[in-house]
Amino acid sequence: MKLAQRVNSVQPSATLALSAKAKALKAQGIEVIDFGLGEPDFDTPEAVKNAAIEALRAGFTKYTAPGGIDELKAAIVEKFQRDNNLRYEKNQIVVSCGAKHSLYNLAQVLFERGDEVLIPAPYWVSYPDQVRLNDATPVFIETREENRFLLTRELLSARITPRTKALILNTPSNPTGSAYTQKQLEELAEVILEKRLIVISDEIYEPFVYDQFKHVSIAALRPELKDRTIVVNGVSKSYAMTGWRIGYAAGPKDVISAIETVQSQSTSNPTSIAQKAAVAALRGGSRFTEMMVAEFDQRRRYIVKRLNQMPAVTCLMPMGAFYAFPNVAALLNHRWRDRALKTANDLAEYFLEEARIAVVAGDAFGAPGHLRISYATPLSAIEQGMDRMAEAIMKLKR
Ligand SMILES: Cc1ncc(COP(=O)(O)O)c(C=O)c1O
Repeated sequence: MKLAQRVNSVQPSATLALSAKAKALKAQGIEVIDFGLGEPDFDTPEAVKNAAIEALRAGFTKYTAPGGIDELKAAIVEKFQRDNNLRYEKNQIVVSCGAKHSLYNLAQVLFERGDEVLIPAPYWVSYPDQVRLNDATPVFIETREENRFLLTRELLSARITPRTKALILNTPSNPTGSAYTQKQLEELAEVILEKRLIVISDEIYEPFVYDQFKHVSIAALRPELKDRTIVVNGVSKSYAMTGWRIGYAAGPKDVISAIETVQSQSTSNPTSIAQKAAVAALRGGSRFTEMMVAEFDQRRRYIVKRLNQMPAVTCLMPMGAFYAFPNVAALLNHRWRDRALKTANDLAEYFLEEARIAVVAGDAFGAPGHLRISYATPLSAIEQGMDRMAEAIMKLKR
């Protein structure tokens, strides 16, 4: 069948592809340690599950308003006020089927042919394809590892053209684990305001920050910035609710209302009982999230130490999220038997086959000399996985 041209320009998600391969090996009875996952390895809190069960029992099983129930919007308004010092009205909030859906909806209502959308690289895999699916052009801005992969005023200014419409910022970042300080955001803000860019600020990893780092939303810096920023967040990572599919966007009323219209003609409302569960999550206090962050912090220190002990591997200490992002460029072009491992993809395949560990190659994130290793994996598995990775590296020949 002849498919529409737009689907030829996009790839299936690389992270999901790897996880499928790891699952296939597991199905054959081969034990694989999975470092590919982008989700907390904790179960959803009991109180959140109970809220969904109650909603189910109460018959809260029908269509809701397409952009989400009022009660959830109110809980999101409270969250922004409490955590980000951002004041929104309920009509500035829309709830979608995950933050990924919020981001896709934004691409739908904001982008069109001829628009350029700035994406700092390394980037989360879905940004470029969401831009392409909406006929616009992703423009990548290479950041430098020496600068913790952070976008600077100079790098941003250099890529702006009369066609530039928006910048997608992700702090804390998947895959790099870097996060922007208030001062660094202030610098970017000057260019954003001068060039009248729209900012999409993906803050899905907000609570996962370490060493007393304070997450700041660019929208909170100045009212003029809030007027041109759409903040995207959700409950997937913060409350271990990836399967529930609740994300949200906050921003100018016209953008939010356009998303509600698109949603009313595409998905309709996010699942009714998942919305009730999200209310319980957002209003349930921060103890659960703090427990996860404390656990991830321990794993982060361990995994980074182990990676830096491996020959030809270097790894920055991530400031946030739950990924280590080692530089493995010095391992490329090494050989395994008669096979040359030319790319990070080849290396990731080698690790899967030889060490039975699943890691994601940086290629899909616009970082060809890197691997992404999720530490949303129990410490015992990390210990074993790092042993196997080190052993597999020792087998490689120049
Ligand atoms: C940077 C980033 N943004 C958005 C998402 C999507 O989250 P959700 O599960 O809410 O769709 C992810 C999930 O991996 C992510 O890593």
